[in-house]
Amino acid sequence: MAAAGSAVGLGNIWRFPYLAAKDGGGLFLVIYIILTLTFGFTLLTTEISIGRRTAQGPLTAYGKVKKGWGFLGGLAWIVPVLILPYYCAIGGWVLKYFMVFVFGKAEMAASDNFFGDYITSVNEPIIWFVVFLAATSFVVLRGVNKGIEELSKILMPILLVLILGISLFALTLKNGDVTGLDGLKVYVVPDLTGLTLAKFVQVLMDAMGQLFFSISVAMGIMVAYGSYAKKDADLMSSINQIELFDMIVAMLAGLMIVPAVFVFSGREGMTAGPGLMFQSLPKVFVKMGNAGSVVGIIFFLTVIFAALTSSVSIMEAIVSGLMDKFKLRRRISASLTTLYALFLGVVVCLGYNKLYVEVNLPNGTKGQILDILDFISNSWFMPLVALLTCILIGWVAQPSYVIEEVEQEKHKFSRKLLYIVMIKFVAPILLFVLLLQSFGIVKL
Ligand code: PFF
Repeated sequence: MAAAGSAVGLGNIWRFPYLAAKDGGGLFLVIYIILTLTFGFTLLTTEISIGRRTAQGPLTAYGKVKKGWGFLGGLAWIVPVLILPYYCAIGGWVLKYFMVFVFGKAEMAASDNFFGDYITSVNEPIIWFVVFLAATSFVVLRGVNKGIEELSKILMPILLVLILGISLFALTLKNGDVTGLDGLKVYVVPDLTGLTLAKFVQVLMDAMGQLFFSISVAMGIMVAYGSYAKKDADLMSSINQIELFDMIVAMLAGLMIVPAVFVFSGREGMTAGPGLMFQSLPKVFVKMGNAGSVVGIIFFLTVIFAALTSSVSIMEAIVSGLMDKFKLRRRISASLTTLYALFLGVVVCLGYNKLYVEVNLPNGTKGQILDILDFISNSWFMPLVALLTCILIGWVAQPSYVIEEVEQEKHKFSRKLLYIVMIKFVAPILLFVLLLQSFGIVKL
């Protein structure tokens, strides 16, 4: 449950829908589902098993699997370091929208320029980012994760029901002769017209990075959760639950956002990027009439908690790493991490105004500082960590290292053959090709 709480966050609600929309809906969706059931399952199983078998955190676990592989833990640790600042910046965007709805300004939030005007303003995004970061640090410093987890156990089902309700409502939308059902078609039916190999690889790269981000693998986190699991726990059933739950939330979030975007702003609107959720949802809420204001308040509140449980686990990964490596106390590690995130997060916020840049990214977008950090972590570091993990378990330690751990206490390892084929052959080869592409070594 804790691992699922860490997995479900802004990745599902903010990141998945904007990528699905950018990559044209259906094709991305199909690729994503296939990747979840193959790559997602393989990496989750591997990391959780390494954690439980070694009973160590990520920084030391890999070295225990095989001498000389300890560096992989350090490499994985860089991923949350890259993510934390911008994750909190987006957490700040959610806080802002929550407040706008609390003050009854739904109409204002739904206007076309609101989001752009907001992120290009200098001070306010920094303030809300700082509030979100402070909340994250507070939880980590005070060790009150338990309380937050309890609260999110109540709020997550509410979020899920809301997402479902909003999705159904979005399907009833109409704009001229375009309806929500036309949008649904764009979201679920793959459109292969004009598909080139280069475009396909781009979609694959996006979907793979998204999958890793969303289920929190290739960053050491799941090794840590594995190390907390009891020896007699049925790992496979936990893994299936995380995989399934995370995928369902992401797909429903896409259903809530992508068809609506198509209705309001057609195909062009779908390439809006990281701002997509913030630009489209207020429009949906306003269409709900008075009820929309209340739905908006509850929705953004529950998203704040989903984001907070994830940002806490991202910060915790950095802090516990520092504590283990440098024998620092929690207070010192957490303070250093917060100062670092404060600095880089402010840079991320300023990336939409004073430090504005446009960099052509290999996934076909023009990115600002947030997108650059996101690209480096998701398209460089995560596939690299995943590739090395596959080589370590597939070839150096052998898949039996993981299989034996899963089959403890006579538990069943379903999809065992798939696991072996994935970890030894399919995953390393595909990850290698994707890495060549995302490092720009091969240009299709
Ligand atoms: N998986 C989380 C999400 O989808 O929002 C993000 C995340 C959580 C990334 C924990 C990294 C992490 F360590």
